[in-house]
Amino acid sequence: MKISVIGCGYLGAVHAATLASMGHTVVGIDVDATKVDQLGRGHAPFFEPGLDELLRDGRSTGRLTFSTDVAAAASAQVHFLCVGTPQSKTSDGADLTFLVSATEALLPHLARGAVVVGKSTVPVGTVDMLQGVLAGRPDVQLGWNPEFLRQGTAVKDSLVPDRLVYGVAGGRAAAFNPKTGAPRAVTAALDAVYEPLLNAGIPRLVCNFATAELIKSAANAYLATKVSFINAISELCDASGADVAELSEAMGMDPRIGNRYMHAGLGFGGGCLPKDIRSLRSQAAALGVDPVNDWMGVVDAINLRQRTRTVSLAAELCGGALSGRAITILGASFKPETDDIRDSPALDVAARLAAAGAHVTVTDPKAVNHAWLRYPQLRFEASATRALEGAELVLLLTEWDEYRRLSPAAAGALVRRRVILDARNVLDAAAWQAEGWVVRGLGTNAGAAVSVVSGAGQVSGAGAGLTGMRNS
Ligand SMILES: NC(=O)c1ccc[n+]([C@@H]2O[C@H](COP(=O)([O-])OP(=O)(O)OC[C@H]3O[C@@H](n4cnc5c(N)ncnc54)[C@H](O)[C@@H]3O)[C@@H](O)[C@H]2O)c1
Repeated sequence: MKISVIGCGYLGAVHAATLASMGHTVVGIDVDATKVDQLGRGHAPFFEPGLDELLRDGRSTGRLTFSTDVAAAASAQVHFLCVGTPQSKTSDGADLTFLVSATEALLPHLARGAVVVGKSTVPVGTVDMLQGVLAGRPDVQLGWNPEFLRQGTAVKDSLVPDRLVYGVAGGRAAAFNPKTGAPRAVTAALDAVYEPLLNAGIPRLVCNFATAELIKSAANAYLATKVSFINAISELCDASGADVAELSEAMGMDPRIGNRYMHAGLGFGGGCLPKDIRSLRSQAAALGVDPVNDWMGVVDAINLRQRTRTVSLAAELCGGALSGRAITILGASFKPETDDIRDSPALDVAARLAAAGAHVTVTDPKAVNHAWLRYPQLRFEASATRALEGAELVLLLTEWDEYRRLSPAAAGALVRRRVILDARNVLDAAAWQAEGWVVRGLGTNAGAAVSVVSGAGQVSGAGAGLTGMRNS
């Protein structure tokens, strides 16, 4: 099948490459010439495990090409819209201008009877709006196929998704011929696209447009709620002497709750969750559904509060004054296994510490090249070893494996003071404490009074004897 993918960012590039790997002939279109050039040469313009291999395979079979010219999409039967829908600069709502301009650009090149399918995450009513753009082409069918891939495991998520969702006009009832049961236009086209996945037993759900538009936002809102719930509880743990790691482990053993997304820490960021919960707020407000608006507001506020808590705890560990302190930050990307720094909690905290006068050095296995241009006030080091040299305080803010596996003895030999704030609660605190480190976390400080690092490099305060501060 001939397919075009419009917008080749974190979502579109992976979608194009996985469709080519399924045997389709795919052209990826993007307005960013540098990105298109790299993709065309078989290189991912960002770090995503497994993507380079798929791009190279697609290139060698000749089934995967990229272009900046939307006319190259003309022969495709199915077109996937994968452009960005970032938060508007003036409100909580999603900015749909990229989606509209991509659809307008595609319009003159659509073959008769073509199917246009959106994959971007959008607010309810977007399909109706795009139907207006396509109004002069009643032969063209529109569908919505929300995407659930996660950066870091995007290739696997695309090749073995949990489910496929098709939003079609009239919903499930209208998607099939009532006499024969045969799928109609959009459903039939998507079944052909995803045939290998359907044959492998991946569930397919057909629904109306509003449901398809809402599913992704609702799913992200639920995940964000779980994260902010356990983060709010983590603050309660610090205030009461409980340990959030033990608490969430015990809670997660209840199968009705589960332990996924129940790990307290610095909170979420990235190009999806924050803007999706804000878009949901904006949709709820427009539809007069105040509880959803209010609820998402609280989830967002708790998430951002974790960053403030981390900055405050860092200041406490520096004896109350950040100015002039040498602070090393482990992690810049918004989560491990990606180089994406969009709304990165780690870089937000780093920038706040620098604004308070600290000398901040940031290291990351993949994201340094993206980050240094955007944050000129920070110092970047590609090597964790170099970054740790002379640190008076270390903050672990993105839980890359490399940092989870750091040797406390080796790290201790590099720093000026053995004090670490593990804001992702992933380190074996006992092992670090055994090497003379003061270890703090978020919600895991049971029994630890605040320790203060004095100017002379001594660690003082209750618990500074490195016992009874934090158990792993
Ligand atoms: N990143 C994810 O993990 C993920 C997962 C599921 C859904 N989504 C959704 O997918 C959409 C895209 O997200 P992303 O992370 O890939 O964003 P992105 O910014 O990485 O990619 C968007 C791409 O669209 C291109 N573009 C913009 N206007 C264009 C046009 N007129 N024609 C062609 N290309 C154009 C941009 O140059 C960019 O390369 C968003 O709605 C997002 O919410 C993302």
